Amino acid sequence: MPSSHHDQSAYWMPFTGNRDFHASPRMLESAEGMYYRTTQGQKVLDGTAGLWCTPLGHRNARVVRAVQQAVEKLDYAPSFQLGHPQAFALAERLQAFTGGRFSRFFFTGSGSESVDTALKIALNYHRLRGEGSRTRLIGRERGYHGVGFGGISVGGIVGNRKPFGPLLPGVDHLPHTHLPERNAFTRGEPAHGAYLADDLERLVALHDASNIAAVIVEPVAGSTGVLVPPKGYLQRLREICTRHGILLVFDEVITGFGRLGTRFAFDHFGVEPDIVTTAKGLTNGTIPMGAVFVKDEIYQTFLERSAPGIELAHGYTYSGHPIACAAALATLDAFENDGVIENAVEQQNYWENALHALQGLPHVVDLRNLGIVAAIELESAPGKPGARAMAAFRSAFERGLLIRVTGDVIALSPPLTLQRTHIDELFGGLAAILRELR
Ligand SMILES: Cc1ncc(COP(=O)(O)O)c(C=O)c1O
Repeated sequence: MPSSHHDQSAYWMPFTGNRDFHASPRMLESAEGMYYRTTQGQKVLDGTAGLWCTPLGHRNARVVRAVQQAVEKLDYAPSFQLGHPQAFALAERLQAFTGGRFSRFFFTGSGSESVDTALKIALNYHRLRGEGSRTRLIGRERGYHGVGFGGISVGGIVGNRKPFGPLLPGVDHLPHTHLPERNAFTRGEPAHGAYLADDLERLVALHDASNIAAVIVEPVAGSTGVLVPPKGYLQRLREICTRHGILLVFDEVITGFGRLGTRFAFDHFGVEPDIVTTAKGLTNGTIPMGAVFVKDEIYQTFLERSAPGIELAHGYTYSGHPIACAAALATLDAFENDGVIENAVEQQNYWENALHALQGLPHVVDLRNLGIVAAIELESAPGKPGARAMAAFRSAFERGLLIRVTGDVIALSPPLTLQRTHIDELFGGLAAILRELR
């Protein structure tokens, strides 16, 4: 099939307007560093690190080499009752990479699987401790935790929930933290809104803590359009969870691996969750993989309290896939040796200033940022929510810029290997687009 072929009649594309795609197909053929190249030969600056998943930039040499070598040696190995050295090596490396704060690492194939795994571990943990009534799960409005039934149940994006029936029972949602009337155009963490964490006390009063298993939040909500947590919010959530014996799960599928200028968001905020879900940047997006980080006390509970035999009745065919493990090990090598996060930190101020220089351009009603993440919120066109940002997405792509849109928010999260020239190219192009946008 020629590479320019784009009659996808047999391909049901995910999270895509399949009917609209064919009118102006956007087809990627290759990638290197900060850029994609389309089947038409156009160079496209990757303003989104794919789907937030290539922090090292594309085709990182270490990762490519590791994958090539791995596939030559061991193409696949079952992880049920069998092991292979790479999976053990990766878990050990992650233990060191998290500063020893997490002791066990469960491997999955994606962020959605990591989320479902974390929720199941939380439920099973309480049951093993003799607190089997702790079954309620608490997510947050506007949260995104992937597309499994667990993830959409605790998630709070209405369009991802409403077509799929009643979902998991016994789920509540904290209010989201978006307060544009008080926090618009904040640089970094907004000042107002820590009190929103207190809603967890209301849920405890309503259900009693003895019925609540876990709270799951994204430290920075990404897919809903980049909601940076108010100062003190996550700390307060941690305090309330601790007070009531509720597990706190951080979904770090996009904030993990350098995005905020630290290895993980829990480093940035100085708040320690009990369980962390990751994926994406773990392998630089090269091979699908996720990992769930678990505190020692949780794992020890499984060892000590479960019946003889399998401690956790859970796992995936591709858990600890050898080629994914090789990609992840090489990704960690890059993080530890190539100054990737250091570069992100160095670029942060320039990134922030370039974003906030857009204030005052047509339609711009808010600008938000943290680390190498930014959001440009546009006023919706009357009666057409989402249409304006989608028009920006199309016109950006035509100009050679890949951005991501959700509702009327443009979300930006390029590879952490970006330089000032890329920041200029991205925001310069976006300024021109915003001036032309109707
Ligand atoms: C916070 C968060 N959790 C979970 C997921 C789901 O990951 P995946 O698409 O790999 O299943 C995503 C994906 O964007 C995410 O942003």
